[in-house]
Amino acid sequence: MDNANNSKINKELEKTNRILQKKLERCETERRQLETDIAGKEFLLKQVISELESSREALEQRSQELEITLQNLQTMQVQMIQSEKMSALGQMVAGVAHEINNPVNFIHGNLSHLAQYNQDIWHLIRLYHQHFPNPPLEIKTLQDAIDIEFLQEDLSKILYSMNVGTQRIQEIVLSLRNFSRLDEAEFKPVNIHEGIDSTLLILQYRLQTTLVQPEILVVREYGALPNVECFAGQLNQVFMNLLVNAIDALEDSVVNSKMTNNPQITICTSVVEHLVEIAIADNGVGIPEHIQQQIFNPFFTTKPIGKGTGMGLSISYQIICEKHGGSLNCFSTVGQGTKFVIQIPIQHK
Ligand SMILES: Nc1ncnc2c1ncn2[C@@H]1O[C@H](COP(=O)(O)OP(=O)(O)OP(=O)(O)O)[C@@H](O)[C@H]1O
Ligand SMILES: [Mg+2]
Repeated sequence: MDNANNSKINKELEKTNRILQKKLERCETERRQLETDIAGKEFLLKQVISELESSREALEQRSQELEITLQNLQTMQVQMIQSEKMSALGQMVAGVAHEINNPVNFIHGNLSHLAQYNQDIWHLIRLYHQHFPNPPLEIKTLQDAIDIEFLQEDLSKILYSMNVGTQRIQEIVLSLRNFSRLDEAEFKPVNIHEGIDSTLLILQYRLQTTLVQPEILVVREYGALPNVECFAGQLNQVFMNLLVNAIDALEDSVVNSKMTNNPQITICTSVVEHLVEIAIADNGVGIPEHIQQQIFNPFFTTKPIGKGTGMGLSISYQIICEKHGGSLNCFSTVGQGTKFVIQIPIQHK
């Protein structure tokens, strides 16, 4: 009886064992299947991650490229606006110079004839005097009334001052033409002092005394410079930017800071080895150190909206350093003043 029972239990156990074995085998197959699925999905996931990674890198590169393009565009915009401004100013100046030139030449050319006719008329009057020492009463009265002696003396003085005046206008016209130099699109030997003087002439109205500001004294300490090979118009543009900045700083020091020192701009020129050096200094407000690092950046300005665009120094830097292979440096102490030093090669390589 026991034996029969045992064998029945054994059979059942074997059956259960077989079932469990089968279940185990099925589980094993499913596990393997799952493992294969997971490996496939992992591979896919890795692929997707690496694709995402490379497209992120591509995007970063693209955004860097875009940033550089934007900077280039901004620089180009700065250049275009500035050169447009200067070319418009140059054209206007050249136009004004041209319009003044003709009538002035006309007056100046006639002055020598006028002087000659004047002499002839006085000669004639003297002859009349000699031959008719006792003129009729009517002539005598007029002679006394117009004070003939004074008239003769004053007329020569008037002619002389008209001559000096027209000569001065002719010099101004020459300076204006010199400033505009529209024609020059290549390196040419140029007299730097003429460029500075003509720029100062254009800015004359800002140097004069006003209600709020005393006259700005301009001290020229010019050395003996050779002609310098450069783009004359562009160099004048740099002088213009530096001088306008100096005038602004002097106005600022007088109007806002109530500084009492006499506003002054000093321009020194000299030769340093194969370079010419032009230093433009003012005794205005000066530039704080943390601002000095930014002044050459495009669009950096501390001036109110509408007064400054922040392009003057960045464009000047480009003209001096990149176009002329020179250097432009700033030295400044707050409350004492600022000096900009330009150095450019005398000869262009
Ligand atoms: N001589 C100076 N004295 C004091 N600060 C100066 C002087 N020159 C330049 N700066 C400072 O440098 C800044 C930048 O000058 P920059 O000439 O580039 O632009 P801006 O004069 O402000 O404007 P823009 O020249 O375009 O009209 C000025 O706003 C000013 O703060
Ligand atoms: Mg400026």
